Amino acid sequence: MMEEGLLADLVVELPNAVRLQRLVHTLRERFHCGAVGLLRLEGDSLRPVAAAGLAHEALGRRFVVGQHPRLAAILARREPTWFEPDSRLPDPYDGLLDSRLGEPLPVHDCMGTTLYVDGELWGALTLDALEAGTFDDRARRDLQRYTLLIEAAVRVTRLEKENHSLRLARVDARDAVSSLDDGEVIGHSRPIRDLLHEMQVVADSELPVLLLGETGVGKELFARRLHRLSRRRNKPLVHVNCAALPESLAESELFGHVKGAFSGATTDRPGRFDAANGGTLLLDEVGELPLTVQAKLLRVLQNGEIQRLGDDKPRHVDVRILAATNRVLRDSVRDGHFRADLYHRLSVYPVHIPPLRERENDVLLLAGHFLELNRARLGLRGIRLSSAAERALLAYPWPGNVRELEHVISRAALKMLSHGATRTEILLLEPALLDLDTVTPVAVVGVPAITVPVSGVQPLRETVDECQRQSILRALEHCGGNWASAARVLDIDPSNLHKLARRLKLK
Ligand SMILES: Nc1ncnc2c1ncn2[C@@H]1O[C@H](COP(=O)(O)OP(=O)(O)OP(=O)(O)O)[C@@H](O)[C@H]1O
Ligand SMILES: [Mg+2]
Repeated sequence: MMEEGLLADLVVELPNAVRLQRLVHTLRERFHCGAVGLLRLEGDSLRPVAAAGLAHEALGRRFVVGQHPRLAAILARREPTWFEPDSRLPDPYDGLLDSRLGEPLPVHDCMGTTLYVDGELWGALTLDALEAGTFDDRARRDLQRYTLLIEAAVRVTRLEKENHSLRLARVDARDAVSSLDDGEVIGHSRPIRDLLHEMQVVADSELPVLLLGETGVGKELFARRLHRLSRRRNKPLVHVNCAALPESLAESELFGHVKGAFSGATTDRPGRFDAANGGTLLLDEVGELPLTVQAKLLRVLQNGEIQRLGDDKPRHVDVRILAATNRVLRDSVRDGHFRADLYHRLSVYPVHIPPLRERENDVLLLAGHFLELNRARLGLRGIRLSSAAERALLAYPWPGNVRELEHVISRAALKMLSHGATRTEILLLEPALLDLDTVTPVAVVGVPAITVPVSGVQPLRETVDECQRQSILRALEHCGGNWASAARVLDIDPSNLHKLARRLKLK
């Protein structure tokens, strides 16, 4: 029965995620167990790629093999491994089982096996049953028999993925699979999948890319990914934080100087452009670049030549430019803070990184990822979200995006410990500990407590202006000074907000 289902799935075209998801569901039924996890080995960790019976956020976790003895034991053998029901080894899914969220796993049956694809260790399959004795001799033999089929399903998925990447980016198959390493982008939502797809294509070109998005959305993370996916991946990626570049030093920092160029220049010194030669230069916070430096940068971008300070010979450099900013650069251009010609050079290929609140359930995946990091860092047995906490995370507007989520989770984990939780129990995170700012957008723009002089009558226009002024200020405060987020909270177009703010003399 099961073989038939699996074989049928192997021969039809199914989206990968669906195929693997169906596989784990079939296995769960076949082995009468509570949870099944299919985990891909990546470096020193196992990453769940499909799961049945586990909390949604489990898919966002990375299990470092060295920290999870059960997983290490499974990986150590080619054959299935079965654990005695009273085994004392900690279980990676402690507290993550769907049917017993947040509870420690009682005495239970647990087995797993390694999966090999094309002769290489691909990952592992884990099965957990809440009733001891579920995995009898027969079940264990069956798992061994099914392993080949499961490996075949994984292999088909991988081939399809490689074909797909090959078609997309014309890179060789090995690159396509090895592109997941440090700085992995977590997210399954539609906007993120579309973005990753788009990146794959643009990475391969030599075009400059302008990464736009609110604070904390991952602009730097995506910039690094672009470099890693590009043909320049084996050359340096040099990061320049334009906001931290004082105007007086910017030129020498970017282009270098020769000995004697200014007092203190005691030796020749190459600049960041030299360092990035052959590779990629990331101009981070590019919207903060002083106008004088913008002019010099433009010249370099136009003719591909840099001139070290104090040197009269230009030198050729081969650098791909990536730029990132949380400003609405078009507005900066209009306001005269950013050169239009430089803007056009940099924005050949603009990429918008969506804010976290538009990424559906990714909030939970990311939360799971950060929980696992904190669990390991703090040496906790298990830590997970209560369902009320999940709802709170999903409802919150995340003005600070992923970075804010990271801080919220780390702070909550620490608070739990300081409130006396012990490291040996499974900690359940409740909404109160998340300490989310509960000012909802509605409350922000609701009825502002404005102080209109009741005694004297003033023109309606002035009252309206004052009301708008205060609404904008509150929205800005709520969004940490970010105009784009404030515009969203106020539900008006960003460029209208800027115009309005200028008219109200807020800028
Ligand atoms: N999809 C994601 N998966 C995993 N981690 C993420 C993701 N997006 C962002 N992060 C993490 O969130 C943090 C903030 O990301 P990053 O610094 O790239 O944001 P940014 O857009 O450059 O922010 P800013 O505008 O403030 O400079 C980093 O720790 C990053 O690794
Ligand atoms: Mg950044």
